Amino acid sequence: MKSLLFGRFLLLLPWVLIVIIVLDIDSSRPPPPALAPRGGGGSGGARPAAGRASPPQAPEAALPTIYAITPTYSRPVQKAELTRLANTFRQVARLHWILVEDAAARSELVSRFVAGAGLPCTHLHVPTPRRYKRPGLPRATEQRNAGLAWLRQRHQHLPPPQAGVLFFADDDNTYSLELFQEMRTTRKVSVWPVGLVGGRRYERPVVENGKVVGWYTGWRADRPFAIDMAGFAVSLQVILSHPKAVFKRRGSQPGMQESDFLKQITTVEELEPKANNCTKVLVWHTRTEKVNLANEPKYHLDTVSIEV
Ligand code: UGA
Ligand code: MN
Repeated sequence: MKSLLFGRFLLLLPWVLIVIIVLDIDSSRPPPPALAPRGGGGSGGARPAAGRASPPQAPEAALPTIYAITPTYSRPVQKAELTRLANTFRQVARLHWILVEDAAARSELVSRFVAGAGLPCTHLHVPTPRRYKRPGLPRATEQRNAGLAWLRQRHQHLPPPQAGVLFFADDDNTYSLELFQEMRTTRKVSVWPVGLVGGRRYERPVVENGKVVGWYTGWRADRPFAIDMAGFAVSLQVILSHPKAVFKRRGSQPGMQESDFLKQITTVEELEPKANNCTKVLVWHTRTEKVNLANEPKYHLDTVSIEV
């Protein structure tokens, strides 16, 4: 009898220990990070956040919305790039993604992607005229302008002040979550360093006494704003009070788009340095290698059709 009881005890002991360990792990879990995921689920059209059940956090509702305008075009790596981007954006509170396809119509791939992206998203499209699709010419001019037009249209009938921040998020760059905390407090136009650009490890605005006084760059230092598209954010109020500020095709050269745009809305003296007086790199101008499709068959050989 005694040995039977002891046998049962031995049988139960490991299970009891496992339960104790699991309970212990659960209670020692760190609290969720400060960057609470925002409500999501919006897709297509001009729909704002549908609002996934999120804990009642008053500060989040008070945060200015960050609008990210992303031009994107069809190529083998497109879905991979968009997936990487959505994985970042999904972790940012009150971010509204304006995805602008360089195409004559919305593609099925991007439409499906947007529907499942799990964050507030507006899906637009505009094709780049063929004469501008040439190496050496600036990219994504029409797409960024379409994003700007949508933003202005959406807000023109709403009363000021409208809290919001806009930035241009190319689909191949790499964005740290800290960057969004920094740009969220943009009053007019804010700037910060960009990594892996301009033929250097980084470019950055040079700051003295809290003001931008010049540019650390290895490429075309004569640019009025020697900064990449990923290096600045603009308040919604500035976008609305300068309704004519757009990206221009005429006379524009690669690398000058940023300057041409910024000089329509601000001055160097006015810029607000972020990222610890522009001493921290929080965004990288990464570029994805062109994929090798040398072994891709000419005609579809597989038994199923797979979206990549
Ligand atoms: C650099 C800058 O970082 C870009 O902001 C700038 O638009 C570009 O130069 C330029 O030459 O105009 P880079 O990495 O060379 O960037 O450019 P991409 O990443 O190839 O293109 C920038 C954005 O435009 C991407 O989001 C890309 O998806 C989109 N794009 C590119 C189009 O929508 N259509 C195209 O034909 C090419
Ligand atoms: Mn790029």
